[in-house]
Order: sequence, then structure tokens, then C-alpha cells
Amino acid sequence: MNAARKAVEELLNLIDDIGIIGVGTGSTVEEFIKQLARFKNTLADKYFTASSLDTILKMREYGFNTIHPSSLNKIDFYVDGADEVDPDLNMIKGGGGALFLEKILTYYSKYRVFIVDYSKLVRWLGERHPIPLEVNFYALSFVEEYLRNKGYRVSIRRPVKGKYGPVVSDTFGVIVDLYLDEPVDINSLEHELKTIPGIVETGLFVKLADKVIVGYEDEAKVLEKK
Ligand code: A5P
Repeated sequence: MNAARKAVEELLNLIDDIGIIGVGTGSTVEEFIKQLARFKNTLADKYFTASSLDTILKMREYGFNTIHPSSLNKIDFYVDGADEVDPDLNMIKGGGGALFLEKILTYYSKYRVFIVDYSKLVRWLGERHPIPLEVNFYALSFVEEYLRNKGYRVSIRRPVKGKYGPVVSDTFGVIVDLYLDEPVDINSLEHELKTIPGIVETGLFVKLADKVIVGYEDEAKVLEKK
């Protein structure tokens, strides 16, 4: 995939100044890891942290050095995918349920690069995907009822197979999807959601991307933060 290849290039260009690399979660990231594996020797002295156990296991399969986020206080370079990207490079993330750790790794990384397929570009956030929320399970019913009373359309995410009951994240939160029917002020929505007790994190990534690499059939375009 062009975008994943380009992200590897970006990383290798800065490699002398990078010690710790953060890696997100999802199928695009999986492709990134595969491409990265071609440069395993160059990266032998680097440490990788990840937003999910899934990614940690994949990095280990390729023999990369991995480190738990709790042992870190900074990340030099972060790479991840996204579900939607708006014209200001704000994003929805959390399609894979890893939004809480993804938000932490993104926020505390010096440089953040996101890779998406062109189909992820939208006019407004929420156009095609719900906004995932990580909710503490003690508060689940309160939060659900509260959001419904506020007029939001929400649904507790359920796995396609392999488990009964809600999708529970690696950080033990229940994933609730909030659907928008029209564009809203993303900053106010983020603020409102973050002030509701029981909501641990939202999948709205506002002004958190330094670069978004968009993959097309035969090229990759780089969009930079304005
Ligand atoms: C994981 O929780 C997500 O934020 C992913 O980064 C996002 O859903 C993109 O996933 P794909 O690369 O699989 O489309």
C-alpha cells in the first residue's frame, strides 16, 4: 500500500533523531509493520510501543523491540490509521476499539503521522462512521441513558463473533458508538463528551495530526497540519 510505504519513508528520514516509536492499531498499521520489517536491521536499536496488545504481538512476530507504554514518558514518532479525516485533518479513530491508548500515545508523541486510504477523507466527521467512546463499565447504563436523553443516537458495540456481550477494550472500557446525522461543532462535542463522568475517552482526534498520508491507487499524497 502506497501510504504505508510513504510512512516508512518518513520514519526512516528522521531515524537518527528517533529512539522510541509508537505504533497504532488496525489493518493499515498492519501493512505499515509489514513494510517496516524490510528495514529491521536499521531499526535494531529502536524501541516500539503500541496502542494495543494486537500490535505488540505483531511487532514481536517480526522481531522488533517492544516496550510497554507505562515505562515511557515520551515518544518521538507515532504512526497510526484513522476511520475518517476531515479537511482540517481532524479525525475519528477507534474503529478497532483502541481509542483510549491511541489518544494517549498520539497526544504525548512529538510527531504524529496518520495513514489512510482516500476513502477515509470526509467533508465532516461522523459522515460515515460513528464516534467511538470508551466508557467505564460501572457507568455504562448511566452514560447510555444520559446521552439518549440528550438526543444522541448511541449503541453499545458488539463483536461480530467470538464473544457474547459488549466489546471491551484492552484498557477494560466498554466501547459505545455515537452516531451523528449532521455536521456538528467538533470542539464543543469533544468538550461536552469529555466532561461526562464515566466517559473515559472519545475517538475524536482534534488537531492531533502533524501529517496525514493519503493512499490512492498509484500514489500517496501528504497533507500537512496548517
Ligand atoms: C483502531 O482503534 C482504530 O483507531 C484504527 O486506527 C482505525 O479504525 C483504522 O483502522 P483500519 O486501518 O483497519 O481501517
